[in-house]
Parts: sequence; C-alpha cells; structure tokens
Amino acid sequence: MKHQKNTMNSSDRSQWLDKVYSARNNTELAEGYDAWAQDYEQDILSFGYKIPAIMSGLIGRYLPSGTGRILDAGAGTGILGENLSMMGYEDLVGIDLSAGMLEVARKKGVYRNLQQMTLGQKLNFADNAFAATVSMGVFTEGHAPAESFDELIRITEPRGYIIFSVRADVYLNQGFKKKQDSLKKEGKWRLVEQTEPFQALPLGNSKIYNLIFAYRAS
Ligand SMILES: C[S@@+](CC[C@H](N)C(=O)[O-])C[C@H]1O[C@@H](n2cnc3c(N)ncnc32)[C@H](O)[C@@H]1O
Repeated sequence: MKHQKNTMNSSDRSQWLDKVYSARNNTELAEGYDAWAQDYEQDILSFGYKIPAIMSGLIGRYLPSGTGRILDAGAGTGILGENLSMMGYEDLVGIDLSAGMLEVARKKGVYRNLQQMTLGQKLNFADNAFAATVSMGVFTEGHAPAESFDELIRITEPRGYIIFSVRADVYLNQGFKKKQDSLKKEGKWRLVEQTEPFQALPLGNSKIYNLIFAYRAS
C-alpha cells in the first residue's frame, strides 16, 4: 500500500489495520508497521483508540509514582510512554518489533531506552530487570503470541505488576486464556484485576473488543 499522507479517509486508514492484522510473519508485520509509523498515531487516534485511557488509569491505580523501571512492551510510537511520562513515571524503557515505530517514539524523548526486540522470543534483559511491565495493543490478531508472557514474567521483579491488553477474540481462540490460566495454576503470577471487554476502536471497527488484565508476578 502506498503512503498517502494527508489524503487518507477512514477506509484508507482501516486498510493499514487490515494489513497488519493479516501479516503472515514478523517480517511482514514489521514492514507493515514501518510503513505506517509516520501516520499511525493520527490514524489510530481518529478511530477513538480507547485502550490508552483505560490502561493509564489502571497503571495509575497499581503503580505508585516512584515505581522503578517500567517496560512498555510493544511500545510502538510511544502513546503510552507519553501518558506515563505526564503522570510522573520517569524510568521508562520500550521495546518493539518495528524500527520505524521506535523511531517515532524516540523523538518524544520520554523513554530512557528504546530497543528493537521481539516478544515471543528470548528478551535481552536480565531476570527481574523491571519493577513493572505494561503492554497495550500488542496481544492481538497476528501479533505477539501468548508465549511472550514467560519472558515478561522472567524480567519482572517478584510482586511486580504485569498489565496488558488482549483482543477479546484472540484471548479466547488463540491460546491466551489457556496460557494465562496455566501460568496462574503454576503459581507464576496472580490475577489482580480484569476489565470487561470494551470496544478498542469504536470509531474505526466497532467489532474489535479488548480486555485489560493486571497480574502480579510471583
Ligand atoms: C497496534 S500497535 C500498538 C503500539 C502501542 N503500544 C500503542 O498502543 O499505540 C502494535 C505494536 O506491536 C508491535 N509488535 C507486534 N508484534 C510484536 C512482537 N512480537 N514483539 C514486539 N513488538 C511487536 C508492532 O510493531 C506495533 O508497534
């Protein structure tokens, strides 16, 4: 799809979303986001992107200011980092698959460190490196797999919060519920709160619902 800056209507914008949802592998996914990066925020916010507000509220509920290092996993262009920075969280680290998205995030100057890394693979961080891990919009169709949680738990301190959104259909049908429940049974984390499913992009695609979970690592 060609980059058509400033001439996009809402159906053009939806095509980017369809393109990333239908990526067949991480290479295609990264290429899709690299190409979308400059317009991503304007487009996603024009869909009434709901996750940032609810996510920021939940993070504020559980993480006192002065919480140590926080990882934003799948930070994208840094919408969440910008909110968290305004809320007074200072030690923010972001990772993402797409170099193009990270480049946009970097310009905001709100993350101490941004690195290209792939959820679902081994992450280049020490055990217990983060006081908390947060992630929004990343556990969705064709994106990061449920196995990502093993590494997120490893790099989050014991008793640290892991707060993330999951697309509701993906939660039920693509192994997320099973993985999250089995990590709970294994005593790897404890569920603290889960939202009702809500429309994530009400002005774009009214059929996309997300849930947000807050867990505490053991
Ligand atoms: C819908 S965007 C969300 C970005 C940002 N969190 C937000 O809410 O605006 C999904 C992001 O996840 C990243 N992503 C997808 N799969 C990933 C993976 N396996 N590892 C790391 N990042 C991934 C994409 O590159 C993209 O930046």
